[in-house]
Amino acid sequence: MKMAGKTVLITGSTDGVGRYVAARLAAAGANVLIHGRDRARAKTLADEIRGQGHVEPIFYPADLSSLAGARQLAAAVLAGHQRLDVFISNAGIGSRSLGSGRQTSADGHELRFAVNYLSGFLLAHLLLPLLKASAPSRIVNVASLGQHPLDFDDVMLTKGYNGNRAYARSKLAQIMFTIDLAQELEGSDVTVNALHPATYMNTTMVREGGITPISTVEQGGEAILHLAAGDDVAGKSGLFFNGMQQAQANPQAYDASARKRLRALSLELTGLSAC
Ligand SMILES: NC(=O)c1ccc[n+]([C@@H]2O[C@H](COP(=O)([O-])OP(=O)(O)OC[C@H]3O[C@@H](n4cnc5c(N)ncnc54)[C@H](OP(=O)(O)O)[C@@H]3O)[C@@H](O)[C@H]2O)c1
Repeated sequence: MKMAGKTVLITGSTDGVGRYVAARLAAAGANVLIHGRDRARAKTLADEIRGQGHVEPIFYPADLSSLAGARQLAAAVLAGHQRLDVFISNAGIGSRSLGSGRQTSADGHELRFAVNYLSGFLLAHLLLPLLKASAPSRIVNVASLGQHPLDFDDVMLTKGYNGNRAYARSKLAQIMFTIDLAQELEGSDVTVNALHPATYMNTTMVREGGITPISTVEQGGEAILHLAAGDDVAGKSGLFFNGMQQAQANPQAYDASARKRLRALSLELTGLSAC
């Protein structure tokens, strides 16, 4: 897909792999909508892109640890743009971001589930009318190889909290959502795929976790760009990729009844079921 003139929203692009992807898309001539909470880092990125002679990205600040933040972001994008060709749901927190104990979102949901999964679920649904109107268009969910089955009796991990498990559940939830949404979008020319970008890239969340990086943001960024713009994945939907290669996710992702339960819960938690 030629990216010149395309409009792309990438959440979590003030830092890490999202920042790299935003800069690469801007260099390819896309109108990039960048997002995060940190205005100073967003300004540095915007200045850098403008300084290189590319279209300056527009910054949309929003805190995705609240569903109101996700709604506010979607409303701003819908109000400001006639089209949206690609939505990359990338913002996330690691297993030990903000400490090792259990934390909750503004809405009282387990924080990793809220930031890494539920806000992206809500954003995708709110942006769907614009994505459909701009078809062929794409959604890319930046998930992980770190996946753990959801326990529907304790989705919010109130018992025996563990940061790695919380992170891995939120990442599997993204993949389950990807498969589910792809089925819903069949025939719409809007595709949705998920990926593990690369293992332990040198980013803030990896460093915060005390882990020694073993990949670069360039490696993971190229894998995200592949799903966002690659010609070979045009029309493909509901797939999980490990880097550049299609891969199998955790078996729960292929359990239709588990996906149905997650979907019902997510619609209820986000208030979308009332719409
Ligand atoms: N790093 C890896 O090796 C690796 C491996 C597999 C998957 N991933 C996935 O790749 C994605 C990007 O990770 P990264 O390593 O690039 O992380 P990062 O460098 O820590 O960047 C995270 C981004 O998410 C934003 N963010 C975090 N919490 C937010 C919140 N509450 N509201 C709004 N924005 C928020 C941050 O923006 P502000 O700070 O401005 O809010 C930042 O732009 C994540 O989904 C992660 O799970 C990473």
